[in-house]
Amino acid sequence: MPGEDPAEDDVLAGIDYSQPLNDLNAPGLRSFAAGQAEFAARWVPPFLSGGHWGRGPQSNAESCLSCHPGNGRGRAPDGPGEPPHSLVLRLAKPGTDEAGRPQPHPAYGTHLNRHGILGQLIEEGDFRVEYSKREVALADGSRVELRSPTVRLAALWYGPTGDDTTVSLRLAQPVFGLGLLEAVADSTILDLAEQQQRIGFNGRPNRVIDEATGEYMIGRFAHKASQPYLRHQVAAAFHDEMGVTSNLFPQEQCWPIQKACYRVERVIGVEARDEQLDSITDYLRLLAAPRQREMNDPLVRRGAGLFDKAKCSVCHVPELKTGSNAVHAQLRNRTIRPYTDLLLHDMGDGLADGRREFDAGGRDWRTPPLWGIGLRAMVNGNSELLHDGRARNVTEAILWHGGEADVSRQEFINMNEQDRRALLRFVESL
Ligand code: HEC
Ligand code: HEC
Repeated sequence: MPGEDPAEDDVLAGIDYSQPLNDLNAPGLRSFAAGQAEFAARWVPPFLSGGHWGRGPQSNAESCLSCHPGNGRGRAPDGPGEPPHSLVLRLAKPGTDEAGRPQPHPAYGTHLNRHGILGQLIEEGDFRVEYSKREVALADGSRVELRSPTVRLAALWYGPTGDDTTVSLRLAQPVFGLGLLEAVADSTILDLAEQQQRIGFNGRPNRVIDEATGEYMIGRFAHKASQPYLRHQVAAAFHDEMGVTSNLFPQEQCWPIQKACYRVERVIGVEARDEQLDSITDYLRLLAAPRQREMNDPLVRRGAGLFDKAKCSVCHVPELKTGSNAVHAQLRNRTIRPYTDLLLHDMGDGLADGRREFDAGGRDWRTPPLWGIGLRAMVNGNSELLHDGRARNVTEAILWHGGEADVSRQEFINMNEQDRRALLRFVESL
């Protein structure tokens, strides 16, 4: 049963998203604290005061923490009145380049930057999210309102994006427990995919390029599993979200039409040093996942059974083992309960964004881990879910499941009120 495995006590901790793994020694804790400070550090355009130099010329935020508050997820705006602070808008032209990366927009690149530099460079543009609403009826007659987002682009400085541009809204994801997910062996992920094939599901790993070596690896991180390992994800976040270059992504994001972008003052060499990437990567590796609560509540136990019965556990796999190759001993050969398979699934047209990222197609999303999900309102003050934050609670998130997960949605719709309540209680106990 959850929580009864002694090995688990080592990797699960506390009641929020900020705890280090339990068995860190003093040097481990010092490096954890140093990485935490870098994760919170403010970046400013060179040569302003008040932070590390190197943000921009274009960016969407000034620190990792500003989009991942409390190491949790971002917040989706309520409607067009609220600016999208921790929701990013990815842009692409149809198809991919020969390596499989999305095709950047010729004027705006891979995403829309909402910040330039005061007095030097205007921002690329802005956007707002509007929702259209509809009701879904459950088998027992109760009704649930779902909202689906539409993006309204505004103040586009380099002209309209064009009709064939795909836009994809991405909510900042929680960042705890990721060292353990990085430590799961490739063979475990491939085995899960094979097992699913045998029972009529189709989870597939993404295969993505490691920009450091040009080799392909299994993708694990970001909503379409387009990032192969944590250090890669950290460097990509610096580059894409904050305009901070590193040895992995040394080019500033200026596109040929953006003449003024090339004239902005620059730091000589890369902006985030290797040690800074390492420090944040280590911090993320050592951040524990919260342990499950209320395991012995009869309703929660019943919900756990229904989670299996509704086939949720096919994709949200309760238990995985980490392999033996992690840098940190604490991450090796652990039993973890992340509720993910790290695989891509076709989730149907309702959730599709039409954007390809390597082997992930327009309807594919990586199964998000569910550990810690019940603490999101406490940590982040909001409870939005799914890749763009459209779901306002777990019920709505389940009702958006389509494609391969349509069976689970149907099971949920057909449950009586008591069973639904038990399932939801279980999910919120994670
Ligand atoms: C402007 C908002 C924003 C900022 C700033 C930001 N992120 Fe993110 N982060 C996101 C979004 C959006 C995603 C999902 C990306 C995707 O699917 O394309 C993400 C995903 C991640 C993930 C993957 C989590 C998972 O489960 O796969 C990690 C790790 C991460 N960010 C770390 C960082 C770090 C480290 C920094 C600072 C260097 C940072 N982020 C800065 C918005 C942001
Ligand atoms: C075929 C695989 C699959 C099955 C079966 C499945 N899910 Fe999911 N689930 C996903 C994927 C993929 C997403 C992410 C979709 C997105 O972000 O648009 C997701 C998202 C979620 C989320 C939102 C998580 C977050 O962090 O935003 C919850 C909650 C959830 N699922 C619960 C369930 C429950 C409960 C069931 C069973 C009733 C279930 N899922 C069945 C694949 C699956």
